[in-house]
Amino acid sequence: MIKINDLNKNIINAEYAVRGPIVIKAQELESQGKKIIYCNIGNPQALKQKPLTYIRQALALLEYPELLRNKETSEHFPKDIAERVKEIHKRYPIGTGAYSQSAGVPFIREAIAEFIRSRDGIETNKDRIILTDGASKGVHAVISALIKDNKDGILIPIPQYPLYSATLTLYGGQQIGYYLDEDNSWQLNEEILNNNIEKAIKKGIKPVGIAVINPGNPTGAVLSYDNIKMIINFSKRYNLAILADEVYQENVYPEDLEFYSFAKVMSDMGEKDITLFSFHSVSKGFLGECGHRGGYMEVRNIPEDVFAQFIKLQSISLCSNLSGQFVTYFMVLPPAEGDESHELYIKERDGILNDLKKKAEILGTGLNNIKGLSVRIPQGAMYAFVKLDLPHKKGVDISKMDESERLEYDSKRDSDYCMALLEETGICVVPGSGFGQLPGTLHFRTTFLPPKDEIEELVKKIELFHIDYVKKLINE
Ligand SMILES: Cc1ncc(COP(=O)(O)O)c(C=O)c1O
Repeated sequence: MIKINDLNKNIINAEYAVRGPIVIKAQELESQGKKIIYCNIGNPQALKQKPLTYIRQALALLEYPELLRNKETSEHFPKDIAERVKEIHKRYPIGTGAYSQSAGVPFIREAIAEFIRSRDGIETNKDRIILTDGASKGVHAVISALIKDNKDGILIPIPQYPLYSATLTLYGGQQIGYYLDEDNSWQLNEEILNNNIEKAIKKGIKPVGIAVINPGNPTGAVLSYDNIKMIINFSKRYNLAILADEVYQENVYPEDLEFYSFAKVMSDMGEKDITLFSFHSVSKGFLGECGHRGGYMEVRNIPEDVFAQFIKLQSISLCSNLSGQFVTYFMVLPPAEGDESHELYIKERDGILNDLKKKAEILGTGLNNIKGLSVRIPQGAMYAFVKLDLPHKKGVDISKMDESERLEYDSKRDSDYCMALLEETGICVVPGSGFGQLPGTLHFRTTFLPPKDEIEELVKKIELFHIDYVKKLINE
């Protein structure tokens, strides 16, 4: 029988906090009958968000053409969706049960290219798009290709979505963390980027790329046009490939804020030297189709022979799953005005986005009213990264700790807090240390995905728990 030491150490060392020990405990408590509110992961439909009718009707017809052939069942579907799917059956007669080309079905890639063109008003090339099983697989492919040995490193945000740290660990690369600026709406800070990259270079690390998440997870921040420009200029100075994680591009809530893609800003700057990998997904936005594992990556400024290696990499797993590819197709090509299904599509889309916006405000405002908790009302994505101000237990002298001791001490403090919150209230959130945080600060991340009335209840429960927890800490 194989033993733990027989496994690749990189797998053992990789950590993925959003499904870590707190979640395992939550599942255990749930199996014992405790009601758990899962706020640990951006999985909208698991938290009662309804799938868009349009996506499911189109998928049903696509997967089971018999429904279209039968008059009675076909009349159940809006005409535009039936027509659209008939057209797909004609253009792609082999159906969803067969492998596609490695990069994905050609006309889906064309539709994605058109989506980017009309979103950003820029030139696109369908032959630089690869359909992936969710954005995760695209990120995974790029990191695996860029990390040649254990000297290569990628700049990743702190706090970050742990896909980046975990995948870097898997491939034996170095993490070059850069702190996001909490006091400046979690934007990237040029001085921090410069300092951290120079420190890494001095240690003998070779920076090869930078990962940027916009809108941010876990911060909920939306990057400004100028901030993106600064990142592109910085990347050019150090010849870094950019990994732009844009899975939350539809989740921008304040009216005066706009999502800018890296592709658009780069194109406006006339930048032709820096390679850009942009990722998008069906999992987030207002679709929340996480289970369908659909997404794509679009690559810019890449030589033909290099891109061919990415196609080869994809071909090693044949292709991404076909239902996911078609959900991506439906995402980038929604019903047009005048279509029978258009009105319901808009109603559902706006309903979900307005609801998320309200929930971000309810959660943010509610938590800010609790003494010892503070949070920037999320501008985007699906998360709030809540700052915790906790007293120290008696006898602890933090002035004697160095940075790594302080990080370890804080990671225990935020994990203990989250574990106690779970055990006492059933609310499952993720400790800030799972995403990274400035030494000396404590956080937890929660989604604002549960239904509105549950969010209100959640805030009340957190308040009662927090008051009690702090009392116990002081008196212990
Ligand atoms: C920033 C970010 N990137 C990527 C992903 C993974 O998305 P997908 O389901 O498309 O793999 C997530 C999931 O939460 C995420 O938050």
